[in-house]
Amino acid sequence: MIAPIERALAGLRAQTAVWRKAGETIGVVPTMGALHQGHLSLARAARERCDRVIVTIFVNPKQFNDPDDLKNYPRTENEDAQKLESIGVDLIYVPDPDQIYPDGFATNVSVAGLTDMLCGAARPGHFDGVATVVSKLFLQTAADFAFFGEKDYQQLQIVRRMAADLDIPVEVVGCPTIREEDGLAMSSRNLLLSDRSRVYAPVLAEVMQDLRVRLSEGATMSALLPDAQARLTAAGFTEVDYLELRDGGDLSLLDQAKPGARLFAAAWLAGVRLIDNIAVDETR
Ligand code: PAJ
Repeated sequence: MIAPIERALAGLRAQTAVWRKAGETIGVVPTMGALHQGHLSLARAARERCDRVIVTIFVNPKQFNDPDDLKNYPRTENEDAQKLESIGVDLIYVPDPDQIYPDGFATNVSVAGLTDMLCGAARPGHFDGVATVVSKLFLQTAADFAFFGEKDYQQLQIVRRMAADLDIPVEVVGCPTIREEDGLAMSSRNLLLSDRSRVYAPVLAEVMQDLRVRLSEGATMSALLPDAQARLTAAGFTEVDYLELRDGGDLSLLDQAKPGARLFAAAWLAGVRLIDNIAVDETR
């Protein structure tokens, strides 16, 4: 059965009140839609862990810096609802924009420090938009558990910090990145790649895997970077926003691997910005 779609906060709250009264736990999976296996893996994790599962679909204007990016973001609500059918989610919350940003909305949730680097440096204001909408979705759904992908690792760390700092009683659960067979991390943005670009897109993950091996053998990022950049350029990546080794906890910059280190990358391929990250001590 296709899960009911709710577009109003009042309706969402009426439903969650019934579940709460019955003593049921609630899991939420926040998304912007155009669902793929990465999103579905989060919904499955929620399904396993919680009595009730809410998937939210909201293309959040506050986290887009580029109006064209917002306009071009894929919107596939009917297909999304069908994809969720086999997982058996209980409710799909697709809030009307005024249910998130009513007239006169004036509050901004900003997490200091963690938001300055990586995607935060390249996309000013982006993580304020994320932290603001996610804090609202946590409060609106009153979920006990919230499921986020490691694909957006910096986002995961920021959401954890925000929930802890604001005493929102939700447990944030991080889930592994789901990849295409050729290694490309699944992303709604992959739909925007031309056939030709799609062939070269996995080079980003390949370069990162090779860096991971060399780093775990003791090489430094500063020694490895020029060759890695050259390989990306040769594959058609026009700009590398970052290719960095960082601590997986506080995201501080590293030059050499240590336990908990992660490799982070964002690069442009024919007008599409791809991001990825991997644990350096992880084999896949
Ligand atoms: P969106 O890009 O739709 O992603 C929704 C969730 O799916 C995020 O937690 C993201 O990390 C996860 N995800 C995406 N690709 C994945 C993959 N290949 N493997 C595993 N998980 C993956 O991230 C957002 O939306 C928004 O910023 C949001 C949190 C909804 C706030 O607007």
